[in-house]
Amino acid sequence: MTCFPFSFKKTSTISKHNLDNDEDISGIHNVKIYTYKELRKATDDFSQANKIGEGGFGSVYMGRLKGGKLAAIKVLSAESRQGVKEFLTEINVISEIQHENLVKLYGCCVERNNRILVYNYLENNSLSRTLLGGSHNSIYFDWGTRCRICVGVASGLAFLHEEVRPPIIHRDIKASNILLDKDLTPKISDFGLAKLMPANATHVSTRVAGTLGYLAPEYAIGGRLTRKADIYSFGVLLVEIVSGRCNTNSRLPIEEQFILERTWELYERKELVALVDTSLNGEFDAEQACKFLKIGLLCTQESPKCRPSMSSVVKMLTGEMDVNDSTLTKPALISDFMDLKVRKNQESTTMDLKTSSSSYNTFSTSEQQDSTITSAATAQYDHSM
Ligand SMILES: Nc1ncnc2c1ncn2[C@@H]1O[C@H](COP(=O)(O)OP(=O)(O)OP(=O)(O)O)[C@@H](O)[C@H]1O
Ligand SMILES: [Mg+2]
Repeated sequence: MTCFPFSFKKTSTISKHNLDNDEDISGIHNVKIYTYKELRKATDDFSQANKIGEGGFGSVYMGRLKGGKLAAIKVLSAESRQGVKEFLTEINVISEIQHENLVKLYGCCVERNNRILVYNYLENNSLSRTLLGGSHNSIYFDWGTRCRICVGVASGLAFLHEEVRPPIIHRDIKASNILLDKDLTPKISDFGLAKLMPANATHVSTRVAGTLGYLAPEYAIGGRLTRKADIYSFGVLLVEIVSGRCNTNSRLPIEEQFILERTWELYERKELVALVDTSLNGEFDAEQACKFLKIGLLCTQESPKCRPSMSSVVKMLTGEMDVNDSTLTKPALISDFMDLKVRKNQESTTMDLKTSSSSYNTFSTSEQQDSTITSAATAQYDHSM
């Protein structure tokens, strides 16, 4: 079990002249602080050539740190910025957590109004680019690799939920936040960041954050945040990994556009195997693949209480626990949720949608995997689930 708080060795001193005001930073100990100059040098002045991605929170650059270590350097965008103390407190917590299936945070930079996070660099990009990227897929994921990825992500999430104290709810489990190292070991990224970032930084902890298509309806609509919201998102991701397609795809016939709807329909017809990625050319264990899809359905049931814990999910995936679908209920369907959101938008509520590169305020049925949603609903953290 990993417990905080905060009695770890100091890796660097934060001098007050580095900060934009005189906030009290006592109690912040374990965060490696990089200077802006150092990171600028590492990224060749944040050059376009070194830019490796752009998300809702800002741009990510590859950089070589002093000593030769490669890093992914995430420069948070202006609207993501928040108070130094709050930022560092969060980083302090995250930097203490280590697990084979979590991205490692090396440290951060908080000079003047810059907020930069420094992570270990992962060679094989994210699942959204390499597995769900359609014709742009650069890697072939055989069945064994997919199984290892599913178990790895589940283990990382079980660790955050059940071993770390206090538990951490990721709030944005999705394919683009699952990065892959050189051996295709999955690493969950951006944990804790959902709490730090969304648009109105002073109220982030009370706002719903996440990505459309992966958001549990009770959290998106009611603002009720529990571990079960992550488990719902994991269920969607699991079905994506087995099927090799994103949760929403407007190019498919209408009845196949939403992956959960399609999975439920095939489950009822006892034809789940039809959902397995055809690019596997039949080279997979059909019984195991259907079992994984059933676990995805268990995780996305409408009632949060019916969803299994992540440690049970790990056991089911590895075969240590049977998958009992005798009382399985219909998933909370994304299409129902989207209907509701469309209405909300039409009524000019505070719902607000943004993508990584542009903002828009109506839902289309185009692929939604990069859409981030925030709403003004008050999130409550319920420890009972
Ligand atoms: N540690 C890392 N190693 C290698 N590449 C990374 C790393 N972190 C991020 N990236 C790359 O940068 C891209 C953007 O990441 P970022 O987390 O900013 O956005 P996102 O996950 O696509 O969306 P969101 O902002 O909703 O999390 C990733 O898709 C990935 O390609
Ligand atoms: Mg991300």
